[in-house]
Amino acid sequence: MKKLFIETLGCAMNMRDSEHMIAELNRRDSYELTQAVDEADLIIINTCSVREKPVAKLFSEIGVFNKKKKEGAKIGVCGCTASHLGEEIIKRAPSVSFVLGARNVSKINEIIDKKHAVEVSTDYDESEYDFAEYRSNPYKALVNISIGCDKQCTFCIVPATRGEEVSIPSELLVREISKAVEGGAREVMLLGQNVNNYGRRFSADEESCNFTQLLQKVSRIEGLERIRFTSPHPLHMDDAFLEEFASNPKICKQIHIPLQSGSTEILKAMKRGYTQEWFLDRCARVRALVPEATISTDIIVGFPGESDADFEETMRVLEAVRFEQLFSFKYSPRPHTTAATHTNQVDPAVASERLSRLQARHTEILDEVMDAQLGRVHKVYFDELKPNGRIAGRSDDGKLVFAEGSESLLGKIVDVKITKTSRGALDGIVL
Ligand code: 5AD
Ligand code: SF4
Repeated sequence: MKKLFIETLGCAMNMRDSEHMIAELNRRDSYELTQAVDEADLIIINTCSVREKPVAKLFSEIGVFNKKKKEGAKIGVCGCTASHLGEEIIKRAPSVSFVLGARNVSKINEIIDKKHAVEVSTDYDESEYDFAEYRSNPYKALVNISIGCDKQCTFCIVPATRGEEVSIPSELLVREISKAVEGGAREVMLLGQNVNNYGRRFSADEESCNFTQLLQKVSRIEGLERIRFTSPHPLHMDDAFLEEFASNPKICKQIHIPLQSGSTEILKAMKRGYTQEWFLDRCARVRALVPEATISTDIIVGFPGESDADFEETMRVLEAVRFEQLFSFKYSPRPHTTAATHTNQVDPAVASERLSRLQARHTEILDEVMDAQLGRVHKVYFDELKPNGRIAGRSDDGKLVFAEGSESLLGKIVDVKITKTSRGALDGIVL
């Protein structure tokens, strides 16, 4: 049996792409996963290029792997940085055997034996490819519902790395999810760059099906109890979708609504397609329909042209919505994006200061949110065994919960009373 070391960076789609590669590799040979680079026959780095830092780290990491790897072991670079740098990766690091783009995952067996193969076409269409089965966690199924992204947000490299948006036919999705449910999953996470744009384009003839209709179809799968999805776009959050979110008991009450900026002027420069008012209205709607729902968001500070006043607008939205979770980033100029060519770039020191302020204020909000959890009872779906007789899972509203427990609780949804809180997670006792 060969040994595979695979490192997955970036988003949940990359995690699913890694599972797809593992599944495809196992169609041909048997691979055992290893955490030790020095014993691997194949080393895969599944990369992210959304910000500059991880790209810079890639080449130093390849250097480390070169020193550690055993004689004859192959290194493959896959994912978004593979898509965007292509051949250049092999020029800069000739020890890399192959480069496979984020939209070419299904071709892994075709190129693995070729020397210095590069497959990075962003036109390649994998939307109907029947991937072999593999799930790193059988209790929780990750499922890609679309590939690529049609938006043109001016800061984002993803349309250049993942290509045009194509939805995967709903029949295939229902089949894939049903299979995962048969294998023990009671929860599915539907994935896409822009999930609620689902159904805008299919490769083959497919009856029309939008995201709300897809949610309805998926929720009819027997044995499936929880549905999550990421990431929706605020622009496509119409009333029908929010009402489905609120009323469908299988849909977990956790929603990611990426703000990016609270300033309508900056949102325009980002080409996000919505205003501060629209964003606040959508969040207020979620809060009104589902008071117990948690809302998470992504915010970029220091986008070109962002003034102090613009940043204050972002702070204003943070105060108004009180996001339960925040992923915040300093703007990073990326190739193939128009924002990188803007001449009004923000001083990095100013951006760092804004990021600190935003994060410090959010930490205060988070402390209040988490403290209020003490004594509450959550329905937790346990999906991971931890050391020392501990077990981990998620509440319906997406909070990470730990408790004492054994294997017998895996794959079960049980009531847990919260006895301890921290910023990142809750601790409780199984009732
Ligand atoms: N700089 C900083 N953050 C970015 N993101 C996307 N592109 C950039 C960039 N150029 C952030 C966005 C997105 C998240 C996945 O990464 O907030 O929602
Ligand atoms: Fe990173 Fe975006 Fe690619 Fe995911 S889609 S790996 S977040 S660049």
